[in-house]
Amino acid sequence: LSLKDLAGRHVLVTAGPTREYLDPVRFISNPSSGKMGFAVAERALARGARVTLVSGPSHLEAPPGAELVRVESALEMQAACEAAWDSVDIGVLTAAVADYRAAQRSGEKQAKAAGPLSVELVPNPDIAAGLGARKGARVLVGFAMETHAGVERAAGKASRKNLDFILLNYPTREGSGFGGDDNEVTLVTPSGEAQAWPRLSKLEVADRLLDQAVAGLRAKQQP
Ligand code: C5P
Repeated sequence: LSLKDLAGRHVLVTAGPTREYLDPVRFISNPSSGKMGFAVAERALARGARVTLVSGPSHLEAPPGAELVRVESALEMQAACEAAWDSVDIGVLTAAVADYRAAQRSGEKQAKAAGPLSVELVPNPDIAAGLGARKGARVLVGFAMETHAGVERAAGKASRKNLDFILLNYPTREGSGFGGDDNEVTLVTPSGEAQAWPRLSKLEVADRLLDQAVAGLRAKQQP
């Protein structure tokens, strides 16, 4: 059975880490591999969607047919997402966006000083919240990684960012989170309902979340 249930739909996916440069050779980042987002892009393409994949630095190859936008910083990721948003039907935000960037980025490599160094960091914009604020009849899906009070914190994020649902995972759990091929997630709604999925490959997680997104889209766009 080949289901083209995303034919005619435009899916925006964010993936990977962001990189926030302090100077030309040093940056703040995280170990996100991009695998979850690239899996979502692959499955959405297979189901007939047009896919814009906005990715921070990742070694992965984009699935053929994806419109790949390579970015480094959160500000670049935000600009690419905002630019695509008008024509998007489903947004899936898997990127591990750095929370902070340097208040000032030095144009020159900073020499090592004898003593301690302080760097002023300023918060990055919340890309999800910005898209959620002009969601209209789109479906917006996020991911959350929590070490404790997961369902409660994830529901709070879904609600604040105006997400339809969020997939919660635990970075400390085997077969979940950064780098691996599998993921064990719990779907959490803004009102705090939770549905634990079994451990699945990232491709299977992608298909399940797209099933939910398609159902959500149909419910919203009924005449
Ligand atoms: O970092 P946080 O736990 O708040 O991330 C939850 C969701 O929000 C994720 O889907 C992530 O991609 C998204 N996010 C974002 N922009 C940020 C921070 C998070 O789009 N600056």
